[in-house]
Formats: sequence, C-alpha cells, structure tokens
Amino acid sequence: MKFQEIKNNVFYCGLNDRDRKMFDELIPLENGTSYNSYLVKGSEKTAIIDTMYPPFTEEYLKNFDENGIAKVDYIIENHGEQDHSGSIPALLEKFPEAIVVTNAKVAENIQSMLHVSPEKIKVISNNEELSLGDKTLQFIIAPGVHWPDTMFTLIKEDNMLCTCDFLGAHYTFDNVIATPSKELEHSAKRYYAEIMMPFRMMCKKYTQMIKDMNIEYVLPSHGPVYKDPSFILDLYTDWTADTPKNLVVLPYVSMYESTKSMIDYIADKLNAQGIETFKFDIIDDDLGDLAMSLVDAATIVLGTSMVLAGPHPAAVNIAYLASVLRPKAKFAALVGSYGWGGKLFDLIAQLLAPLKLDIVAEPLQVKGKPKTEDFAKLDEIANAIVEKHKSIGLI
Ligand code: FEO
Repeated sequence: MKFQEIKNNVFYCGLNDRDRKMFDELIPLENGTSYNSYLVKGSEKTAIIDTMYPPFTEEYLKNFDENGIAKVDYIIENHGEQDHSGSIPALLEKFPEAIVVTNAKVAENIQSMLHVSPEKIKVISNNEELSLGDKTLQFIIAPGVHWPDTMFTLIKEDNMLCTCDFLGAHYTFDNVIATPSKELEHSAKRYYAEIMMPFRMMCKKYTQMIKDMNIEYVLPSHGPVYKDPSFILDLYTDWTADTPKNLVVLPYVSMYESTKSMIDYIADKLNAQGIETFKFDIIDDDLGDLAMSLVDAATIVLGTSMVLAGPHPAAVNIAYLASVLRPKAKFAALVGSYGWGGKLFDLIAQLLAPLKLDIVAEPLQVKGKPKTEDFAKLDEIANAIVEKHKSIGLI
C-alpha cells in the first residue's frame, strides 16, 4: 500500500481494520477502526510517530519496504497501550538503528509490557524538542487522555499535532483526510463516550489548549486526520461542557413487561413536559448507543426486574458501566418490579454512588404489574425530574 502524503513529507502509514466488531471487548464498532501511524521525513532524520496493533504487524512492516523506507532513526511513542505500541519490538528488529523516543511513563510501560530494552529508549521531558533537520518535533506531555502516560507530538514547522487517542474515532477510510459528516460525528461521539468521557475535565482542558495553539492539522491515533480541526474541537467543546442537555436516558431490563410499562409511563410523562427521552433495552440494544446518550443526559432512570432476591445482573452491569464512564448526569430515579421478594436497589445505588447523583424520589419497587397507586408514584417521579431540569435551566 502506498503511503498517503498528508502534507510536506508527513505521510500516513497506518492501517484500517474494517472487520473489527468490538473494541476493548466492550463497545461494538459500527465502522471498524484504524490504527494510525505517521512517517515524518526530515532533511536529516526520519521518524515514525506511533506504531501498530500487533495482529497487523506483518502488513505494516511490509508497507515500509513497498514505500522504499530503508532507514528509520526515531520511533516516537505517544502512548504505551498496545494498539499503538505493540509493534515496537518488530520495528526495532527491522530498523535496528532506530531508538524509541518517549516520556518516562510510556518508557516504563513498554519496558514492562513489551520488554523493550532501556538502551533502545530515549526519555524526553515536557516541551523537549527533537530535530529531524528541516523539521522539529516537540513533545507535549498530556496525561489523562486516556492513560497516565499519554503525550502529544507537534510537528512544528507544519503546525501538525499528533494527539494520540485524543480526538480519535473508530472509523475507517480510503482518504485519510476527514470529510466532516454526521456519520463521522456519530463515530467520534461513540468513541468519546467509551474512551474519553471518564476523563471529561482533561478533555476539556486539552480541547481549549489545542484551540489556542491554532493547529492546522490534528492527527489522532484512530480515525481520520482533521485538516480543519474546528470540526472535532467544536464537538469536544460541546461534549465536555459542564451543563447536560434536557435529556433523560432510561435503561431497563424487564422480564414480564412490568418494569417496561413503568419506564414507558415515565418517558411519556417526560415527553409531554418537553423533555427528550432515550429508552434503552439493556438486553437487546447496542451498548454504544447507551454510552453516547450518557454524554448528554441530565438524568438516568434505571429500571430492573428482580432475579432471585436482587436486581437483574444485566442492570447491575449497566449501573457499573455508568459509574466507570462517569457521565455528567446530575439526577437519577430507580424503578422496578419483583415476584416474591427481595431488594432491587441497594446494590444498584451502591454502584451508582461514585456519580453522586441526586436521587429525585423514593425508588419504586412494585410487585408484578404496577397498580393505580404505583402510577401515582410514577407521576411523582416524573414531576420531580421535571422540577430538577427546571432548577438547572434545562426547561
Ligand atoms: Fe488506541 Fe489507548 O489506545
């Protein structure tokens, strides 16, 4: 495969993985993903910025031969996770004169995880520069998006910033330069929801930093290159905003339609009050859609059936997932139905506790199908949500 020149001797040498169906064995991929790697040819030295997911190593290395690259001086590693660092040992075998240039945390990770020899690593500090001749690389240590080891690499003369996983998308392409579209926005948001949302405040900080740098090209480690970075930066500004949107997400698992009927009832009441709702069937729906809705939601209403004497395990999974994704939601309500007895909400509330959600009303646990008095309590829950949304100016 011929490397695509992005600009001025900076080339894309990554690969598309169009068949991959899951990432992190957690969130389904709708458009596969790409593992981005960049080749920077200076007048004196040549560098590769980030490497390759191990199963693609053979194809990745072959492409250097096909593009006539016989010598590489530096392998810049922005992040130690193996979808970007996993091919370092093979690259060092192919280009034995190369050294890995990275920060101390990545150096520690690639030594311990990939057994890269410390003699092959040059450790740099924040803002340090590396000359390739007519091009200069500058390293900006940017921990927290999404590992403690992450950094960005600026190709100074070309005003291009390699942002590692930050600003990425699980997306594949023929032309590496992004064409802004709703489809790309959707993929980037899905990616943000799973990978970056737990670090929203760091994302917010670096989004502003990159805006202030007036970068011309953003080169992430997954998905296309942004020639006009305002597309992705404006999206991140929206997603990382402190104020949620006038949206209630209602994940539920329902064995005999009782819990579902409660969720439907609350959603209808909220819709009638001008609140957008997103009902999510935990068993049948796509987890990525739930994660995306959590980017914006102000309120989570979790519905669960009882299994034995506790919440359905699928609802427990969702409560745990929400707690680790750390959405900006402020309010919650809990509803559910049981057959013979037990406690529906203790474990769920415990799992959601790190989110510090304001539980808007007494959780409602009904036996079998909800009765007239239960619907009155559902009205109270819906009304409480409306009042909470009003209290923060969403309505
Ligand atoms: Fe795409 Fe954190 O690796």
